[in-house]
Amino acid sequence: MSWHENKRVLVGVSGAIAAYKSPALVRCLVQRGCEVRVVMTRAAEQFITPLTLQAVSGHPVCRHLLSADTESGMGHIELARWAEVIVVAPAGADCIARLAHGRADDLLAAVVLAAAGDVEVAVAPAMNRQMWESPATQRNLAELAQRGVRIIGPAAGDQACGETGPGRMTEPDDIAAELIGDAPPLLLDGVEALITAGPTWEALDPVRGLTNRSSGKMGYALARAARDFGARVTLVSGPVTLDAPNGVRRVDVGSAEEMLEAVMAEAPAADWFIGVAAVADYRPARVAAHKIAKKDARMRIELVRNPDILAAVAAMKRGPFTLGFAAETENVIAHARQKLTSKGVDVMAANQVGSGDAGDVLGGDENAVTLLHKAPRRGDVALEKTDKYRLAVQIIEHIAPLLAARRRGGGGGRGNDGTGGDRSGA
Ligand code: C5P
Repeated sequence: MSWHENKRVLVGVSGAIAAYKSPALVRCLVQRGCEVRVVMTRAAEQFITPLTLQAVSGHPVCRHLLSADTESGMGHIELARWAEVIVVAPAGADCIARLAHGRADDLLAAVVLAAAGDVEVAVAPAMNRQMWESPATQRNLAELAQRGVRIIGPAAGDQACGETGPGRMTEPDDIAAELIGDAPPLLLDGVEALITAGPTWEALDPVRGLTNRSSGKMGYALARAARDFGARVTLVSGPVTLDAPNGVRRVDVGSAEEMLEAVMAEAPAADWFIGVAAVADYRPARVAAHKIAKKDARMRIELVRNPDILAAVAAMKRGPFTLGFAAETENVIAHARQKLTSKGVDVMAANQVGSGDAGDVLGGDENAVTLLHKAPRRGDVALEKTDKYRLAVQIIEHIAPLLAARRRGGGGGRGNDGTGGDRSGA
């Protein structure tokens, strides 16, 4: 399993002193691109607060079986179906016994019991060395192992109770590495990434407007991937139904003009601007103060051109490195190359959209692009069709060295990476 796969991981926290390490585990998993939900037992709350785990996971912690008050809105069956991986860390001696015996009288035990065969279940034991060595615990662990539950650790060493021996919970980063693999390399460490995503909404009146079918998925995938590679990410988003990725700052906007304003406020601090938004080319010349009533058989709407946000950022003196997206249905490369030049961007991602296939890419989970460079000596780079997160990862792996070379080249100006000349005249 790798962090590329963006797994849904449920972290179960039981009552043991090592629960203080559970927030670190959640962070390690989030860093590896996982979506994480946390279930706590009542005993765990004696050691750590749900609020801490909510803050690091970005979701309310699930604590109660049989409650309509479910903070998350998910019952034990729903949680068990949601999870691709369940890891109980720390798993105290009592918790291990309860899981081994198939108990279902608290949420964590019930979720593990309800997990289907394809869910990977792991426990990271943590307890006093004597409790660990007791035949009862060992029998319970053997039972779990026989059912396919992975036992991670424990490590040996100093214990909270003052004794020394086996029973220390494995370190969070090692648990995450064992489950998901190594953390992504921090290719974007220290990089401020500014991303636009989604459609814009150009109002006609208080209830109607012009928009398009952009789902925001590509921009949100880039935001998530950039975060995973260590960037600080600001996402200026048009109206979409997606949740902001954990740790990403989202600025919600409606119209192209609002998007421009938000972007220009953030752009001076950005190292990398990625324009993925499907910005409306035109907006109604007038916005009616009240709902427009129907009258004649025909009506005309006058439209005026919207500002080009990407071009505006690319024209900034000492502005960020710019990446645009050009979704085309025909002459893909030629049209995208025209836009690369006319907008003055550093790299343009030409969307490989076959005619009639545009709907697939706009709302779908997959995409393919060819990266075209302003720098004349850089060839085109074709990235094959894959899910949008993986594509985002490949785009970042390609762009990160260009960004790094540019930064080495000094400040916001052009470096010696061949990404182009000085833009101050653009
Ligand atoms: O719509 P068009 O094909 O010109 O879009 C290409 C790129 O320009 C995209 O990256 C899009 O986000 C950006 N764009 C923009 N402002 C506009 C139109 C497009 O930033 N008004």
